[in-house]
Amino acid sequence: MEPADVGAQRIEWTKENMRLLAGIRQRFEVEQPFTGLTIGVSIHLEPKTAVLLQTLRTGGADLFATGNLGTTQDDVVASLNREGIRAIGRRADTPEEHLGNVARIAGSGLDLVLDNGADIIAAADDQRIIGATEETTSGGNRLRSELAERVGYPVIVINDSPLKAIVENQHSVGQSVVESLQRITNLMPQAWHLAVFGYGWCGRGIAHYARQVGASVMVVEPDEIKALEAAMFGFPVRSVEEAIESAGVIVTATGAERVITADHIDLFQPDAILANAGHFDVEIDVPSLAAAAESRVEIAPGIERLDFGDGRSIRLLTLGRMFNLGGVSAKGNSIESMDLGFSLQALSLERLALDRSALVPGAQPVPDDINRLLARQFVELIGG
Ligand SMILES: NC(=O)c1ccc[n+]([C@@H]2O[C@H](COP(=O)([O-])OP(=O)(O)OC[C@H]3O[C@@H](n4cnc5c(N)ncnc54)[C@H](O)[C@@H]3O)[C@@H](O)[C@H]2O)c1
Repeated sequence: MEPADVGAQRIEWTKENMRLLAGIRQRFEVEQPFTGLTIGVSIHLEPKTAVLLQTLRTGGADLFATGNLGTTQDDVVASLNREGIRAIGRRADTPEEHLGNVARIAGSGLDLVLDNGADIIAAADDQRIIGATEETTSGGNRLRSELAERVGYPVIVINDSPLKAIVENQHSVGQSVVESLQRITNLMPQAWHLAVFGYGWCGRGIAHYARQVGASVMVVEPDEIKALEAAMFGFPVRSVEEAIESAGVIVTATGAERVITADHIDLFQPDAILANAGHFDVEIDVPSLAAAAESRVEIAPGIERLDFGDGRSIRLLTLGRMFNLGGVSAKGNSIESMDLGFSLQALSLERLALDRSALVPGAQPVPDDINRLLARQFVELIGG
């Protein structure tokens, strides 16, 4: 099969199971909310996002899309291009090539932006843009700090929706991180001594799902209230050093930079496994670890061994990038959770296109009526 055929087949199965988006597509086909509008998109390009793009196109949008670094699925891009949706980028893109793709989209005369990490928003000229959506925590943080003064149009931060936090960040990331850890390493979870760094939405899910498959789990969390919550669920709360010294598996989900660095080399367990689930590949400071290593070798697909001499070594998963999305045969979050998250995207973009009167410039949450409509529909769907 051609890559475009493989992509099309994978999209088909996904599409069948994204039932909220199917309903939205039916309505968009009639109402055409995006007629005459170009939407610039930066989001992980995989079958679920393909269904979102198809939905927006059905609503009349002209699309120009790229993926995120290291997670693009080439067969999906081939399939999108074949059906006339402009998508660029490859899994093998270097950081420079990826930035080039983002810059191309940012400079192509956009009316709306669907962003992930605020990459397009940071690179785009405001002139024509009427509004944007932002998918992630990390992008939301950038919009409220470094980009706060610069963005003169409304940006709906999908991540701030309680629906996404509960269904996707907590439950679906928890499930896919634990599934990916098992699939990439093929190791038995009952033998994992797992330290989860960050007990936010993602970290909570990771800790609880890992425990459900038999791992022993500890938590590192600087926020006292969240640490209290972790402790009340029976997770030992450890300092950074205590956790690194005793964990065989370390997973970061903090949104922060340089959580694990070369300063920790003397503390790691022999053969400790390091994996990042945070959006950017900066939580595990791979450059400092690589600089300190005597050798760095890929020992299995998605697993590198870094040797520091004197028998000290670590196993790094998927280059320190989000391993539940970037790893070998990664499937990412469950189809249903992304159906809900992408329905929030589609309805928020529709609101930006047609009715911006209640929206203010800059970052803001998903309008409450959209949250409540989709929450009702999702409960009906999964309730059987
Ligand atoms: N892998 C995925 O599929 C996926 C999906 C959604 C979000 N994310 C990403 O995961 C990250 C976390 O998202 P979230 O929604 O859980 O955010 P969150 O803000 O709810 O939680 C982050 C937690 O990390 C804690 N933290 C900060 N610095 C820390 C440190 N140095 N050590 C330990 N803990 C620290 C914070 O106190 C907070 O409780 C973000 O980068 C987000 O973009 C990944």
